[in-house]
Amino acid sequence: MADVAVIGAGTMGHALALVFALGGHRVRLTDNNPATLDRAPRLMQAALASLVEAGEADRSWTAERLQRAVTCVAEAEETVRGADLVIEAIIEQPEVKRRLFAGLDPVMRPDAILASNTSYLDPFPLMPEHRLPRAIIAHWYTPPYLVDLVDIVPNPKTDPAVVEQVRGMIAAMGKKPIVFKQIVPGYVANRIQAAIGLEVYRLLDEGLVTPREIDDSVIHGLALRWPVLGVLAKADFTGLALLQDALRHRTYEPPPLRDNCDTLDRLIAEGRTGVAAGAGFFDWGGRSPEELYRERDRKLLALKKAMRAVGSMEPS
Ligand SMILES: NC(=O)c1ccc[n+]([C@@H]2O[C@H](COP(=O)([O-])OP(=O)(O)OC[C@H]3O[C@@H](n4cnc5c(N)ncnc54)[C@H](O)[C@@H]3O)[C@@H](O)[C@H]2O)c1
Repeated sequence: MADVAVIGAGTMGHALALVFALGGHRVRLTDNNPATLDRAPRLMQAALASLVEAGEADRSWTAERLQRAVTCVAEAEETVRGADLVIEAIIEQPEVKRRLFAGLDPVMRPDAILASNTSYLDPFPLMPEHRLPRAIIAHWYTPPYLVDLVDIVPNPKTDPAVVEQVRGMIAAMGKKPIVFKQIVPGYVANRIQAAIGLEVYRLLDEGLVTPREIDDSVIHGLALRWPVLGVLAKADFTGLALLQDALRHRTYEPPPLRDNCDTLDRLIAEGRTGVAAGAGFFDWGGRSPEELYRERDRKLLALKKAMRAVGSMEPS
């Protein structure tokens, strides 16, 4: 059991606190926005209820047990004092992260591991240099209590024992850590997602297809094979010569890089910002975000169970 400090209790932070608590660790959670910290226990309880209901968390995980396992602390300094592992999950702004790392440095244990959950930054130049041997990226996907992938990235000075310790700790919680040798900007899953995003935004702006047609194409076409084959094993089944021909003789160009999507801009201007606002690409009419998150979690948990039972194709 480790003492884990999670800094930032937003979308990722509260959920990471839950994951580490369920993994058997003592967790302290903080946020510099009191309202966000105040909301965190409710969000963790709701997620825990879905996990218990699906049999993914033991029934002994009552609300009281979770309350004992995760302590919400107002001050970041108090949160990290004595912690074995400090997880940074604050806003994606380099200068804010730099100030946080500098401020916590004097109170952190000298041998504490410092793990950033950053999506797009190189966090290592933002950290005090002497922390680098015990600093790492551990990048999770939302919601981390459902998605198992964790990207682990050391910096050139990271002690290999620290990489192994973090990898082992995350694997022991039933997660799927992937250790990269160096920073891969955007990691792999986010890059693939970004490439899909470019094509989807183009299709929307061209007005050739509807949002429903795009999602139906993914749900009923692409998605079925991915859990069993991924992308490259699927290519082996397709046959590589066909992929070569498809590249050579394609009838359309790949989407250009772009900084905006007209459809996205229009929806946002109309206040259709997604589930939290009741509408985005689709109308979620009248159902609360909590209800929708719970339904999403239930379905994803059922799918995970099925994926585990089915397994993926393992090349020899
Ligand atoms: N949202 C995602 O899907 C996702 C996935 C993987 C990684 N990440 C990364 O995780 C980090 C957090 O993202 P998020 O989506 O949870 O953001 P978020 O905005 O939901 O939460 C960030 C929280 O950090 C708090 N905060 C800001 N400065 C702070 C400080 N100095 N001390 C303490 N708390 C502070 C904010 O009040 C906020 O509640 C980012 O680096 C992001 O790139 C996000």
